[in-house]
Amino acid sequence: MLRTRFTETVGIEHPVASAGMGGGATSGELVGAVSEAGGLGVLGASFLQPDDVADMVRRARELTSKPLGINLLLHAMEDRVEETLALEPEIFSTAWARDDQDLAAIFARAHERGCKVMHMVPVVEDAVRAADAGADVIVAQGNEGGGHIGEIASTVIVRQVVKAVSPLPVLAAGGFVDGAGLAAALALGADGVLLGTRFLATDEAPVEQAYKDAIVASDGTDTVVTTLSDSLSGRDWPGAWARLKRTRFVEQWLGREPELRRRRARLWEEVAAFQESNADDGLMWIGQSAGLIDSVEPAGDVVRRIVAEAEEVIATLGP
Ligand SMILES: Cc1cc2nc3c(=O)[nH]c(=O)nc-3n(C[C@H](O)[C@H](O)[C@H](O)COP(=O)(O)O)c2cc1C
Repeated sequence: MLRTRFTETVGIEHPVASAGMGGGATSGELVGAVSEAGGLGVLGASFLQPDDVADMVRRARELTSKPLGINLLLHAMEDRVEETLALEPEIFSTAWARDDQDLAAIFARAHERGCKVMHMVPVVEDAVRAADAGADVIVAQGNEGGGHIGEIASTVIVRQVVKAVSPLPVLAAGGFVDGAGLAAALALGADGVLLGTRFLATDEAPVEQAYKDAIVASDGTDTVVTTLSDSLSGRDWPGAWARLKRTRFVEQWLGREPELRRRRARLWEEVAAFQESNADDGLMWIGQSAGLIDSVEPAGDVVRRIVAEAEEVIATLGP
């Protein structure tokens, strides 16, 4: 049993969280399975219809009575804070705030509802800002990760954030997939790990089979850091790059973002169609961590295996 300030603060068994991945990359099944296994399942609510989010939370609650989280990307979704909190997550998970947003006021609304706040940051300055605003858990996210990321590697940002906000619990994110990773995160002073790419390659993840296959096939060298996906979506993501699989579509448009923005509507439709059929043509947000993922597994098994492996690793390190 690995008890940390994170497991104590959140009231769960294991120091493992699944990332709240927006745009339909998580589901009630995934979140319910992770939480039921003793981790923290987090639903990504950004860019989804409110009714769909409510359905997903209902489904997760059918699968578990344990704590779960809901994530919002603050820069784009502040107007959805109240209805998200009304779904009564135990954890309100947030990330990517703009400088002009009032984090203290947003976090206070969550606290009034009895929620704990878990905020993800790519730089230490943002960790201090979130801690001052009253966050209960900080997620320090490194550049290895999938999706939107900053520029600093996990080994550096995790350590920086731990030093800056201690004794607040810190989760390490970006590049973590297994028990060795969890043990390493604990050695860096973190209180657990948050994993995105690993949980996309699970039975319960609601992404296409081609997406899961691409993660399993990856040796970690086939990703690229770019802003291409934001040029395509038209979303103004403060301070972020995005790590994507280097698909044929990405190869075709790298360095041609002005033209991409001009063709946005047509290309967005094309990408959606590719996504269904062929991993080589679509747009897939995956981390370097894909290089350590060899199979699609049930999400609950992932949680249990990470913890068992970490306990073994820690035991072999000696007294
Ligand atoms: C497909 C995808 C979507 C993501 N969406 C979000 C999101 O909506 N909100 C958020 O806070 N983080 C999001 N993330 C980032 C994760 O929270 C996490 O930091 C990252 O996946 C960790 O790196 P890993 O993929 O190596 O585990 C997303 C990541 C991926 C791969």
